[in-house]
Amino acid sequence: MKKATMILDKDFAIGKIDPRIYGSFIEHLGRAVYGGIYEPDHPTADKNGFRQDVIDLVRKLGVPVVRYPGGNFVSGFNWEDSIGPRDKRPKRLDLAWATTETNEVGLHEFCDWAKKADTQVMYAVNLGTRGPDEARNIVEYANHKGGSYWSDLRIKNGAKNPLGIKLWCLGNEMDGPWQIGHKTAYEYGRVANEAAKVMKWVDPTIELVACGSAAHDMPTYGSWEYQMLDECYDNVDYVSLHRYYGNPTNDTPGFLARNMDLDDFIKEVVAICDAVGGKKHAKKKLNLSFDEWNVWYHSNQQDQEVWKADKWGRALPLLEDVYNFEDALLAGAILITFLKNADRVKVACLAQLVNVIAPIMTRNGGGAWAQTIFWPMMHASKYGRGTSLRPIISSPVYDCKDYEKVPLVDAAATLGDDGSLTIFAVNRDQKDDITLDCDLRAFGSLKPVEHIVLHHDDVKAVNTEENPNEVVPAKGRNAKVDAGRMTVKLPALSWNVIKLA
Ligand code: AHR
Repeated sequence: MKKATMILDKDFAIGKIDPRIYGSFIEHLGRAVYGGIYEPDHPTADKNGFRQDVIDLVRKLGVPVVRYPGGNFVSGFNWEDSIGPRDKRPKRLDLAWATTETNEVGLHEFCDWAKKADTQVMYAVNLGTRGPDEARNIVEYANHKGGSYWSDLRIKNGAKNPLGIKLWCLGNEMDGPWQIGHKTAYEYGRVANEAAKVMKWVDPTIELVACGSAAHDMPTYGSWEYQMLDECYDNVDYVSLHRYYGNPTNDTPGFLARNMDLDDFIKEVVAICDAVGGKKHAKKKLNLSFDEWNVWYHSNQQDQEVWKADKWGRALPLLEDVYNFEDALLAGAILITFLKNADRVKVACLAQLVNVIAPIMTRNGGGAWAQTIFWPMMHASKYGRGTSLRPIISSPVYDCKDYEKVPLVDAAATLGDDGSLTIFAVNRDQKDDITLDCDLRAFGSLKPVEHIVLHHDDVKAVNTEENPNEVVPAKGRNAKVDAGRMTVKLPALSWNVIKLA
């Protein structure tokens, strides 16, 4: 049998894991809000119209932060439309997604939902059609205790206490020509800096994310980060990264290696942040907010049909990717990459959460179920807490179209605050099981207490409402520790979680 080895030591710490790397994203797009989290006529809806079956799945997934309300949507959005009496809120054309936004769910409703779903709100302000003035106003509305125009309006609208939003995005993908109010790096850097300054004057406790590139392969990538940070470095805390992958040519080995690109992307943006910091003689370091990541390609053609049939409709079924087993393996590999960069990646959002390129799907009036990608995300959020350890891995490798020497086994390890150790491992080998042999002598005596395996013989297998348990985790039974060495068999094409205590 093929073999990979890994050495772990509790002193080889990469960094403390920020639980917000297990965040997600809800945009006013498709059926994410209407028909996703909110459906007043649904049998499980609570008195505010939120689907309890969806809340239960979100809580099970364990999502510490949810980015809201967009995405591309936010660059044409007036936040003031989303507050006050619902019957007075305007219906607007959403130019980003060619739909009609009714504003039935707005800021207060979303914050109420977030509380029930046991998560925090990460709020994006519009720096496309709007600017610093509207940005500082919403911070005053949300976070100021009272006694000013906007904070008193919040109280009048039913929230006596501040909404307490601590993490804010300064616009969305402003380097993308598809964005309403698209800007050059200099234009964006200037407006982001001025918005950041006044937002922090209103509430100095907030943290701010500046827009990095919309993808690693954007033509302005690199120079965008450098130039815009040159303008706003001192007033921001994080730089955003976005990345989606697809497998349209059915090249599974190449697809499963895509987290190598993610790792390069992260390391390059860290280097640019530090270069700008160095140039400025800055004491502070910027960290990364990988606030959109996922697989996104299955629904592209279907979306064109939806728009052809009903342009400007409400809550259209857009971006409804149905995820298969290989997508779950890549999601697992991406989560491993975040853990291995836990010293600098402090926020990450699986885009998105419900129905729109999401781990959770619903049918209007019907059920809610977990897609394949739900499982690695849930495992990482549940078990991947504490400190990320630097694993020394030696694995057989393979070559594919974009990468040479891709390790067949990729893995991360976390040391819990209770002293437990968890190993996350992906076997990308299409045919062969691989034995992972871990040197754990530095930990004293440890025993496997949980072993979870996600595997399916068919990489294209999916979960559906009728068959929600086609791709689900199973118990693994072969992790053994002997004299400080753990051995475990990683089945061909599998995601594995081994917890030792
Ligand atoms: O998540 C879907 C879209 O992808 C977002 O609206 C946008 O920011 C990105 O291009």
